[in-house]
Amino acid sequence: MHPMLTIAVKAARRAGNIINRASLDIDKLTITSKNHNDFVSEVDRAAEDAIIDILLEAYPDHEILAEESGVRGESEYQWIIDPLDGTTNFLHNFPQYAVSIALLHKGVLNQAVIYDPANNDLFTATKGRGAYLNDRRLRVTKETHLKNALIGTGFPYTNFTHIDAYMGMFRDLIQKTAGLRRPGSAALDLAYTAAGRFDGFFEIGLKPWDIAAGCLLVQEAGGLVGDFQGNENYLKSGNIIAGNPKIFGQLLQAIAPHLSEELKAQ
Ligand code: IPD
Ligand code: CA
Ligand code: CA
Repeated sequence: MHPMLTIAVKAARRAGNIINRASLDIDKLTITSKNHNDFVSEVDRAAEDAIIDILLEAYPDHEILAEESGVRGESEYQWIIDPLDGTTNFLHNFPQYAVSIALLHKGVLNQAVIYDPANNDLFTATKGRGAYLNDRRLRVTKETHLKNALIGTGFPYTNFTHIDAYMGMFRDLIQKTAGLRRPGSAALDLAYTAAGRFDGFFEIGLKPWDIAAGCLLVQEAGGLVGDFQGNENYLKSGNIIAGNPKIFGQLLQAIAPHLSEELKAQ
């Protein structure tokens, strides 16, 4: 395993332990609301602090971009951290959430870890060296028809700016696919796409920490990732389509008619 990935895995497992312990007694947690329907608990912060400590202990000069604490330092190496992706699920004892850690080097995704602590599933990828679930090599599915495809998504629940565009995509895709699923963790949705559990995935307006690690997993499993124009601006726009190469193209086509002028410009 690449030494930087080893450190990221150590950090993700440490955070996972904090999350698992807290999951035994959710009622005791202090929870605050960041926005409508957007909660953060002391677990998110404790997990994030643990991850940052481990990364900076190994690489004191590296830059950090973390959901709860923002940017720290400046370097060509930037770690992007979501300490708990799927907080709403976690707070409801719905076991679908993960720790997500990615490393960008000079703006290019280089290492990725997504750790599902409820199932002890570790998804990892290193650029050019493939994607893994525990020690099993991952490949995206070979499905060629959207009508047979199982598609993951996330729908708006805090910010409703693009609700009309989203509902158009939703109405169309529930008719054009074998099924749409909204498990509630974008990081795991992408990991599942890499693992061939989903044929594809799309969502509007995600943050870099939701998707950075998952994007590298999908690419290293032989899939494609793009924004709604099929270009590479997904980490910035947060608008994302991912899938095996055939389903990626068909999702891109199916989504295009529903884009508002604003979404087309992002
Ligand atoms: C959320 C999850 C969810 C997605 C949201 C994200 P959080 O992350 O990834 O699936 O639909 O847009 O914000 O807030 O639980 O870390
Ligand atoms: Ca998230
Ligand atoms: Ca989070």
